Amino acid sequence: MPSNRPLFIVAIDGGAASGKSSTSRALCRRFNFLHVDTGSHYRALTAALLAENTGPEDTARVVAALARLPVGTAVSGNEARITVAGRVIPDAELRAPAVNAAVSGFAAIPELRAALLAYQRGQAAVAEERGFHGLIMEGRDIGSVIFPGAQLRVFLHADPEARARRRALEGQSDSIAERDRRDSTRTTAPLVCPDGAVSIDSTRLTLDEVVGKIAALIGEGMTAR
Ligand code: DC
Repeated sequence: MPSNRPLFIVAIDGGAASGKSSTSRALCRRFNFLHVDTGSHYRALTAALLAENTGPEDTARVVAALARLPVGTAVSGNEARITVAGRVIPDAELRAPAVNAAVSGFAAIPELRAALLAYQRGQAAVAEERGFHGLIMEGRDIGSVIFPGAQLRVFLHADPEARARRRALEGQSDSIAERDRRDSTRTTAPLVCPDGAVSIDSTRLTLDEVVGKIAALIGEGMTAR
């Protein structure tokens, strides 16, 4: 049931394997917020485009393919999942090495980002319709471009060694440094710590400690309204 209080929006940005997803999931469970992982949006479109042999270098083909691939949302528990042509793409496909290697290339295409910008802003209405108290959206440009007016904007970072260790523990092969380089240097909506965002270095913090810090900020923000 929609509530009469405005939705509390939290933007969490950071590089690859900076701890955004585990942190956001734990916070959403604690506050009954909807969790939206925008990296999975770029991954889902990448998987769908690769499946039809379209690469990031052929922008005209990417744009034509996007017009044929409607996106939607499936909510399960606290999790909003993107659907592409009516299908939720399984995690194993979203995290496949071919997707890891190509996703930054697709994410640099302005037309693809524009399509996802409208979709991502629309997730606030999804959260409201479903009666969530708030929304946590994680990505690279959430506090800078998607929701610059979010009630709380957080930028998470960690040393490259700590991030590589986290990915290895998840059993994943991922070129974190190369993706970060491409994501930070692209022209449209690069990865940046936006002015006014709370910056947290998680290198020497446990997940519970990071969650605790952000939970305190959400608690303060919600009572101050
Ligand atoms: O968060 P992730 O590692 O799953 O993100 C995958 C890629 O998607 C990342 O390398 C860059 C892109 N991305 C983006 O450009 N903007 C976002 N808001 C989120 C992800």
